[in-house]
Amino acid sequence: MFQVKTTAGAPKSVLYDELLAQVTGLLADERDWLANTANVAALINQGLPGLNWAGFYFLRGGELVLGPFQGKVACVRIAVGRGVCGTAAQRRETVLVPDVEKFPGHIACDHASRSEIVLPLVKEGQLLGVLDLDSPHLATFDETDAAGLQHIVNVLLERTDFTAATSPGGQR
Ligand code: SME
Repeated sequence: MFQVKTTAGAPKSVLYDELLAQVTGLLADERDWLANTANVAALINQGLPGLNWAGFYFLRGGELVLGPFQGKVACVRIAVGRGVCGTAAQRRETVLVPDVEKFPGHIACDHASRSEIVLPLVKEGQLLGVLDLDSPHLATFDETDAAGLQHIVNVLLERTDFTAATSPGGQR
């Protein structure tokens, strides 16, 4: 049984070092995109304090479609350019939102969410989707989160075969 362990109360940089080591172990023998993104969503949700949603959207048929996540039921399709997720996808840049009410076009899947961070998943120049984390507290995420999550995304991208992740699935 794989146990997610992070040190309660440790500085964020320590939590991210611990998480990175665990992600690396978790993905060592598996390249399936669905399995790996499901486990990374679970690992982040268990390993980081103060989250109410952690998961993935994948670019399928030209829009972002909900992937593996932990949290409340979420909106299924997000147009590129819309909301925080669509903005990160369009810009191919991490978007940090300290107060979602001040982000024009923020899509409220869970009304408890107060702050958010979204990282694009880009492999070999191709946009695959995004990693989205939400918190019920204001200003939960900062540059330490952006850097720590980017390291996790880098390991995920390197160790996973995403060929099937962006094939259009069933339409609405
Ligand atoms: N808030 C996101 C939508 C996804 S949910 O938070 C899970 C956005 O504005 O793109």
